[in-house]
Amino acid sequence: MGLLVKNGVIVTADSISRADIYAENETITRIGTDLEVPVDTTVIDAKGKLVFPGFIDPHVHIYLPFMSTFAKDNHESASIAALVGGTTTFIEMCCPSRFDDALEGYELWKSKAAGSSACDYSFHMSVTKFGPETESQMREIVADGIASFKIFLSYKGFFGVEDGEMYETLQLAKKLGVIVTAHCENAELVSRLQAKLLSEGKTGPEWHEPSRPESVEAEGTQRFATFLENTGATGYVVHLSCEPALRAAMAAKSKGTALFVESVLPHFLLDKTYAERAGAEGMKHVMSPPLRHIRNQEVLWNALNAGFIDTVGTDHCPFDIEQKLLGKDAFTQIPNGIPGIEDRVNLLYTYGVKSGRLDLHRFVDAASTQSAKIFGLFPRKGTIAVGSDADLVIFDPEFQGKVSVKTQHTQNDYNGFEGFEIQGRPVVVTVRGQVQVSDGKFVGQKGRGKLLKRDPAYF
Ligand code: URP
Ligand code: ZN
Ligand code: ZN
Repeated sequence: MGLLVKNGVIVTADSISRADIYAENETITRIGTDLEVPVDTTVIDAKGKLVFPGFIDPHVHIYLPFMSTFAKDNHESASIAALVGGTTTFIEMCCPSRFDDALEGYELWKSKAAGSSACDYSFHMSVTKFGPETESQMREIVADGIASFKIFLSYKGFFGVEDGEMYETLQLAKKLGVIVTAHCENAELVSRLQAKLLSEGKTGPEWHEPSRPESVEAEGTQRFATFLENTGATGYVVHLSCEPALRAAMAAKSKGTALFVESVLPHFLLDKTYAERAGAEGMKHVMSPPLRHIRNQEVLWNALNAGFIDTVGTDHCPFDIEQKLLGKDAFTQIPNGIPGIEDRVNLLYTYGVKSGRLDLHRFVDAASTQSAKIFGLFPRKGTIAVGSDADLVIFDPEFQGKVSVKTQHTQNDYNGFEGFEIQGRPVVVTVRGQVQVSDGKFVGQKGRGKLLKRDPAYF
């Protein structure tokens, strides 16, 4: 059966028009006015609404064994949260540790998502060690359609790679034509600073940021960029949080290094005073890189609007309060992460577009189109065009509400953005032509999501 979305204002990364969209067999087949459609078509009237391409979250953690525990969501809960928030595709970090076999890890992550995710998805494949088997394993994973690797320069001894392993990974990525995403913090400095602070009796969550200062992230970013420059590989810095790291990334970009930059929702809206709150309240806001001094927020917004920051993800990573309290005696034991998969689009629209900090088209670009382009999904995803998947977000710009744990779908007992005002939200969301959200509620088919394979034509 076909789908017709009529009377809406279609907004993409580079255009705005009033037109109707017709989709059949999961794909947009016609865009125009006064379209003639078969009688059994599902018709959605989008009068007064904006119609965006399905949003893409390029950085989430769903299945995640980390810091002696597991992140709280499963693929069903996270994908429903994503869809209600307008995200129709996410790219999850597949993160086997240094002690695990990479190929077994990849199969495990795939098995968790398959038949469980209600939206489409892909993975960044982590390389957490580089051994004799790595090249053949990664070849197999890339042949399965994966477009990107992930390395951690932090989390020493668990996810983190040494410089030699980073070099080998970048060489391999260049050979295979994939991009390398990187968490950029200097692992040695983080562990030394953590030990020093703990030895001084500084154990609370307020010491998390001083244990990973801005200079430590800037060094990691610059080192990653230097390795890219000298291997010719293409890189993507994940969750860049502060001005010194941005300067390092921009210096590399201006030299012609192939480097993309992602920042994540918490760093635009929350600052380090959230993590300085006493006890569990502070622990809820512990993530890495940490929430920063508030002066960085204006820098990030300006860089995003100018396109120096390419994408906005969430780094969705829910741990509940009981898990956060694992770190009650030492901030180094607080599981790192803040959820956000459900709130990214609404908060970016509210605090970016509505407040005049972010151009409407740059919003679509950063929250959807760029991720599709960088990770080999464009033009199937990330735009509204004939031939693209019918992933549509019909967005009510007049809606007013508040973020609250009471209404969220993610499986967690707090929301890091509790009480933030929302102006605008998705009312209808489709995935490949099927209505998955209606009137702001999940009404769709669980387990409908597909593992997306990169489009070889795009590389
Ligand atoms: O604090 C964070 N970001 N938790 C998830 C793991 C990571 O570093 O992305
Ligand atoms: Zn990270
Ligand atoms: Zn992450």
